Amino acid sequence: MTTYRIAPSILSADFARLGEEVRNVVAAGADMIHFDVMDNHYVPNLTIGPLVCEAIRPHVQVPIDVHLMVKPVDRIIPDFAKAGANIISFHPEGSEHIDRSLQLIRDHGCKAGLVFNPATPLHVLENVMDKLDLILLMSVNPGFGGQSFIPHTLKKIAAVRKMIDDSGRDIMLQVDGGVKVDNIREIAAAGADTFVAGSAIFGKPDYKGVIDAMRGELAS
Ligand code: DX5
Ligand code: ZN
Repeated sequence: MTTYRIAPSILSADFARLGEEVRNVVAAGADMIHFDVMDNHYVPNLTIGPLVCEAIRPHVQVPIDVHLMVKPVDRIIPDFAKAGANIISFHPEGSEHIDRSLQLIRDHGCKAGLVFNPATPLHVLENVMDKLDLILLMSVNPGFGGQSFIPHTLKKIAAVRKMIDDSGRDIMLQVDGGVKVDNIREIAAAGADTFVAGSAIFGKPDYKGVIDAMRGELAS
């Protein structure tokens, strides 16, 4: 029996009321908070850093899942760990030494993840499966919320599902970008177990209604 997790991305939350937003989305059933960090260098957008992570930490009991879209990654990892992050993932393009960055995350007591853009090949995975707690497959190009799911990523999800199963390791398979109530079942069928959704949840007034509908799709 697969454990499915819903990870609302606060990128689409109302930043003027962020504490209230994260409390509400956790009360609505979020399993973790997805925290998108963009640096206007690796991606063409600029968002939030460790100070904001620290600010929301007392408001939520669920894990904070930090998605680093920054380059370089190493110097910001300890700051996020100190700010209360539980999971930290990064794009291989953002690290000079992927193995070292993964180890750095674990040395700071966090779970470690690697993120692959729709066109990024997966070959680095072969060498680091033992250092991963999460693999995040982007189903849009990173940088913005509200984009449409890219269908060819379904094949990639299935390929990574097989790699995880073959490894026998307990690694979450997260999908990020364009995840909605009407496609979550197909994404799960391809092999994902953890679903990031920003605009689909925060774009509606009833967060619980959306999360319940997503769980309903996953159960059916
Ligand atoms: C995009 C971010 C996503 C984004 C998803 O670069 O990594 O987490 O917030 O937003 P939606 O769900 O609106 O596609
Ligand atoms: Zn993200």
